[in-house]
Amino acid sequence: MSKSRSNFVCQSCGAVTNRWQGKCDACGAWNSIQEEQAATGIGAGTARKPPPKGRQIAFQSLAATGQEPPRTPIGIAELDRVTGGGLVPGSVILLGGEPGIGKSTLLIQACAKLADAGGRVAYISGEEATAQVRMRAERLGLSGAPVRLAAATNVEDIAGTLGAERFDLVVIDSIQTMWTETIDAAPGTVSQVRGAAQALIRYAKNHDACVILVGHVTKDGQIAGPRVVEHMVDAVMSFDGDAGHHFRILRAIKNRFGPTDEIGVFEMTGKGLSEVGNPSAFFLSGRDASAAGTSVFAGMEGTRPLLVEVQALVSPTALGTPRRAVVGWDQNRLAMVIAVLETHAGVRLGQYDVYLNVAGGMRIVEPAADLAAAAALVSSITGKILPVDAVFFGEIGLSGSIRPVVHGGARMKEAAKLGFDAAVAPPGSGDESAGLRVERTDHIADVVARIAALP
Ligand code: TYD
Ligand code: MG
Repeated sequence: MSKSRSNFVCQSCGAVTNRWQGKCDACGAWNSIQEEQAATGIGAGTARKPPPKGRQIAFQSLAATGQEPPRTPIGIAELDRVTGGGLVPGSVILLGGEPGIGKSTLLIQACAKLADAGGRVAYISGEEATAQVRMRAERLGLSGAPVRLAAATNVEDIAGTLGAERFDLVVIDSIQTMWTETIDAAPGTVSQVRGAAQALIRYAKNHDACVILVGHVTKDGQIAGPRVVEHMVDAVMSFDGDAGHHFRILRAIKNRFGPTDEIGVFEMTGKGLSEVGNPSAFFLSGRDASAAGTSVFAGMEGTRPLLVEVQALVSPTALGTPRRAVVGWDQNRLAMVIAVLETHAGVRLGQYDVYLNVAGGMRIVEPAADLAAAAALVSSITGKILPVDAVFFGEIGLSGSIRPVVHGGARMKEAAKLGFDAAVAPPGSGDESAGLRVERTDHIADVVARIAALP
């Protein structure tokens, strides 16, 4: 046994230094370095053994074993969409989200659904007693499902309890409460989180089970604990939503076995999470189309079109420097759209505060939202109400040109499905208009002129 050493580990990124520092050189976090005992397990001060014998296999020989990994669909369509069609045996998924957002609820529902369909499922809680988990399942009307429950925090115990039996899904709630005997540090510290994750990943690979790890996130939305856990697992998903809204969005941030741009939309109800099959209708419900300053953006999330309302408010500034505040969109893109409107379309916003909000708490990342944002801004400053039956999409360039975006056809089809009659879009986006009247436009000045000409 070697003498135990200690390391100084950054609790936010997992970087290791050999002395204490006030600021982590790797991630720049302040006051995040803590002293921890170095691992006493594998590789820690052990004498060098002869290298183990490996085996080489030809890449081509793998092709015969099948191109697609086998999958176990959970049976909750919104969840299966995000995983890429179901759980892959032997893979590990990290599910991050703020406390109280509904991670445990989602996973209990997933466990019950899979178990009811004949899957072998275990739910291990490190935070709640089994009675509490059962109570929640009862409240959700799921207590009849044959899910194995356990309250445990030691990963060696967990592996022992699960035994040699084959599970389709093992949920660990949460990775921050887990600890392994091989590491001498408190649960929740970086080395414990990493060590426990390693042990659970080994379990998944050896037993061909899919393991889902729940991860808490810090205030700024990072999954607490080392980023290395994100690199170790096969998929990282985030579950988020707005405290003031009932809907929740599941996204894949990383996925070795599926797409990363799909989203699953859920609504938190009194009976747990229910799937939102038609998110566009959901996000547009409660829209006040008779007010100036709102437009409807025909967006895409992965392969799925999604219509959302963009609201703008332009009001004279009381201070020397006008305010620009944005919720659900990129601050820099707003600044750019404002600059383009000023320079290329003569819309003066220098003396005005500008607020932009994506309704429903949705977050848009697509540049295709530029045109909808610009239209809402111009509508607000001119007081002209945009046609209620029109959707907008298109990317605005710095020259004021409106550039084509992908999936124009799918966007318009979704708009037509929801009863819209017209689309304002750049030329070259989508030839099939799905019955919509398409007003093609290739310059922002043209859009501003058309809005100004509205009654
Ligand atoms: P939970 O799944 O415990 O969140 P997490 O595991 O992410 O911390 O969700 C708890 C919240 O969900 C809590 O604020 C109450 C709410 N909730 C409902 O609104 N309806 C329900 O049926 C359940 C079980 C929870
Ligand atoms: Mg929980």
